[in-house]
Amino acid sequence: MDTIASELAASIRSIPDYPKPGIIFRDITTMLGNAKAFRRAVDALVQPYAGTKIDKVAGMEARGFILGGAVAHQLSAGFVPIRKKGKLPHDIVRIAYSLEYGVDEMEMHRDAVNPGEKVILVDDLIATGGTAVGATQLLRQIGAQVVAACFVIDLPDLGGRKKLEALDVPVHTLVEFA
Ligand code: PRP
Ligand code: ADE
Repeated sequence: MDTIASELAASIRSIPDYPKPGIIFRDITTMLGNAKAFRRAVDALVQPYAGTKIDKVAGMEARGFILGGAVAHQLSAGFVPIRKKGKLPHDIVRIAYSLEYGVDEMEMHRDAVNPGEKVILVDDLIATGGTAVGATQLLRQIGAQVVAACFVIDLPDLGGRKKLEALDVPVHTLVEFA
């Protein structure tokens, strides 16, 4: 592991059997509460896109809001919240998706992105990829160009990265838990 990956791995707490037996929950609240680790994570997420024109950063509720907001600020980009169902007040697009421990629906305002705008997706973690694939489909439905997806944590055994790459979305992650 490189230095940043091992620093971040040490700042993330692992909780066995949460929220269901057999799942090891990778808890980023300890990383967020560590000022140095939080800054290192945001800087490392931003680094591949510095100097590139990115119109919007889309973050998935809820942990993607924390990281995505910080990344959008650093890139001088707008921020688009992708929310769980029933939270957005205006005209929405919606998609059902599955994740490591359940199924849900997510929504985005139909006018959140203009056709052709360059968007990067940001979340804390990619596992099965269900959330990120659903978010990519929503963004493409309204004409966005999804230029990349970035995550602090990759769980490679669950195959999410490969699913996104198969949709031609380049994936950037900082630390793996295998
Ligand atoms: C977690 C995580 C990702 C998603 C990854 O969110 O923050 O969004 O699961 O899993 P996947 O790759 O299998 O889709 P969760 O839905 O638990 O929501 P939260 O951020 O509100 O806790
Ligand atoms: N989201 C999906 N799988 C997860 C895991 N193992 N830990 C934290 N968040 C997750």
